Amino acid sequence: VPRDDYVIVLFGATGDLARRMLLPGLFHLAKAGLLPARYRIIGSARSALTDDEFRQHAKDAVAEFGLAEPTGEAWREFANSLSFAAAQPTQPQPLLDVVAAAEKALGGQPRRLYHLAVPPVAFAPTIGMLADTDLASNARVIIEKPFGTDLASAHALNETIHATFDESQVFRIDHFLGKESVANILALRFANGLFEPIWNRDHISHVQIDVPETIGIEGRAGFFEQTGTFRDMIVTHLFQVLGFVAMEPPTSLAAKQLRDETTKVFEAMPPLNVTHVVRGQYRGYRDEPGVDAGSQTETFIAARVEVDNWRWSGVPFYLRTGKSLGQKRRVITLGLKQPPMRMFALDPGTGQAAPSNQLVIDFDDPGWIVARFLAKEPGAAMRLGEATMSFRYADSFCVQHALAGYERLILDAMLGDQSLFTRADGIERLWQVSARLLDDPPPVEPYTRGSWGPESIHRLISPHHWYLPDTP
Ligand code: BG6
Repeated sequence: VPRDDYVIVLFGATGDLARRMLLPGLFHLAKAGLLPARYRIIGSARSALTDDEFRQHAKDAVAEFGLAEPTGEAWREFANSLSFAAAQPTQPQPLLDVVAAAEKALGGQPRRLYHLAVPPVAFAPTIGMLADTDLASNARVIIEKPFGTDLASAHALNETIHATFDESQVFRIDHFLGKESVANILALRFANGLFEPIWNRDHISHVQIDVPETIGIEGRAGFFEQTGTFRDMIVTHLFQVLGFVAMEPPTSLAAKQLRDETTKVFEAMPPLNVTHVVRGQYRGYRDEPGVDAGSQTETFIAARVEVDNWRWSGVPFYLRTGKSLGQKRRVITLGLKQPPMRMFALDPGTGQAAPSNQLVIDFDDPGWIVARFLAKEPGAAMRLGEATMSFRYADSFCVQHALAGYERLILDAMLGDQSLFTRADGIERLWQVSARLLDDPPPVEPYTRGSWGPESIHRLISPHHWYLPDTP
């Protein structure tokens, strides 16, 4: 539990992210006893709401999207902590007044936490407003994604932020890193003697990070047309997960050591080869309200990337994600090499060699891990059959106390722990890796809604196959 008192300012408080994730998440933290003993939450947006209207907005959001019902004493206490300030970068006075009132009510010297849940174009002006008023002092700031649109813009944004805030005050959020099962990659690899010895090019033939989604763009044409799936999902989420899968063992789990290691992975990634990328767009996307009739924005990406270092040289990492696909899943698959000698007959039915082993990590909430291997089928003949060993969070642990990604990360920001946040140099390197693709994107290929993307993704991954196992 954070020991400091906090005034939390939620910029973009009437937006989609606040409604779906942040307001329900803050209430869940309050209910779990994980907010500071004394806190105030100030919603801020351009629109003018009264405090009561904002409380109602928060209550509706929690009722629709939250885990905990907005009722009882816990809700009353939380609702009493809420107030609202209509503000924009050029007119900060209402916010200054509401912050001053909240600080007076708490007394002492509460810390300030700013969560910039605003469109990326508003990051710099909002930081500028904090810098021009006395709001920047004693503060931590959470910045949403995508952080920049290319290297130059990310670098400029870092410079703007660093003119006011020290890097230790900056929390660039990527909610995938807050997921229990992503943090569990560290435990799986480094707390056990079982997996890490095979976690390298000698044993692994390829890695797949697959995050298909069934939703379309959900009315977010304005955001999506400017952003596209590569910036929205690959730079932001999938590359970060890749960092955890590929990193060397850090000397500790402290923020510096952990982020040094993920940054080294990003440094070892050569620039994306444009011929190793498939950009797709679902049929019907151009008819969505607000989308350009000739739009070349991708709603799907599949890419083959490399990590050119001692551990991974020659091992392709295949990433795939997109909207309007067949299933919503989040799966990492490590494909293992065949054993060096084959003493078992080919499958008499198909004449095919046995499939390779796989270690599959599903990082859905709460997720599961499966090892797929071959075993002798019972009977007179020496016949092999596919078998699995599986771990499901819900079987081994009580998952009721799990925090959602955003919740864990907001809590970490209040505690000042940056381990699961991205760092300026790491994110700039990722934009550098992406530069060729952003400068010279191949045309989008159409795909049917509910499919797995354009046909050419099969060529991209050959001789391997896209693999999405059933949930055990
Ligand atoms: C967000 C993206 O960051 O992550 C969305 O902007 C995407 O486009 C979402 O749908 C996926 O997150 P989750 O946690 O639902 O897998």
